[in-house]
Amino acid sequence: MPPNFDPHAMTPNEIGLVKRSFAPIASDSRQIGFRFYRRLFELDPRLEGLFRTAPRDQGGALFSMIDLIVRTLDYQEQLVPIIYDLGRRHAAYGVTTEDYDTFRTALLDTLGEALGPEFTPEVRDAWAAAYNFMAQVMEEAQEHVKAGRTLPYRRASSPIQEEADQ
Ligand code: HEM
Repeated sequence: MPPNFDPHAMTPNEIGLVKRSFAPIASDSRQIGFRFYRRLFELDPRLEGLFRTAPRDQGGALFSMIDLIVRTLDYQEQLVPIIYDLGRRHAAYGVTTEDYDTFRTALLDTLGEALGPEFTPEVRDAWAAAYNFMAQVMEEAQEHVKAGRTLPYRRASSPIQEEADQ
C-alpha cells in the first residue's frame, strides 16, 4: 500500500455529497465523459497525443471508473490497490504527475457544467477531495515506477490482459 495514503482523506459528509450529486448524472456518463475530454484537450492540447482511444470510448472508461469509485467510497482502503494499479498503468501511458492538475480542472469544470446550480462550493470541494484521493494514490504509484520500486504495467490493449500477463 502506498505509505502516504490517508484513510481519512474524505469526511463522511464529503462522501455523501459526492454520491448524491453523482446519482442524477450517472446514467449520462458517456456524454459527460466525452465533454470531459473535450475540456481536457482545450486546457492542454498536448495531452491529446497520449490517447489512442477515441474520446467517446475513453470518456466511457473514465466515467465507469469514477462510477465504481463513487459507489464504493465507503471502502476507500480496499480501493487503494485498484487505484494504485491504475497509477502504474498510467506511467506506461506517458502521463506526468503535473497532468493530474489539468485533469482535476477539466473534471471540476465538466461536473459544474453538468450539475449547474447543484454544483455548490461545498459539492465542488467534496469532488476535489475525491479526485485528490485518487490522484494522490496514482501519482504515488507513478513515483514508485520512476524510482524502480514497483514494476510498470506493460502497455496492452486491455487491463485484464495485462493482469493475466503479469
Ligand atoms: C484520477 C485520475 C484518473 C483516472 C480515474 C483515470 C482513469 C483511466 C482509465 C479507467 C483508463 C482506461 C485504461 C486503464 O484502466 O488502464 C485510463 C487510460 C488513460 N488515461 Fe487516465 N485516469 C486518470 C488520470 C489521467 C491523467 C492525469 C492523464 C493525463 C493526461 C490520463 C491519461 C490517460 C491515458 C493516455 C490513457 C490511455 C488511453 C488510451 O491509450 O487511449 N489519465 N485512465
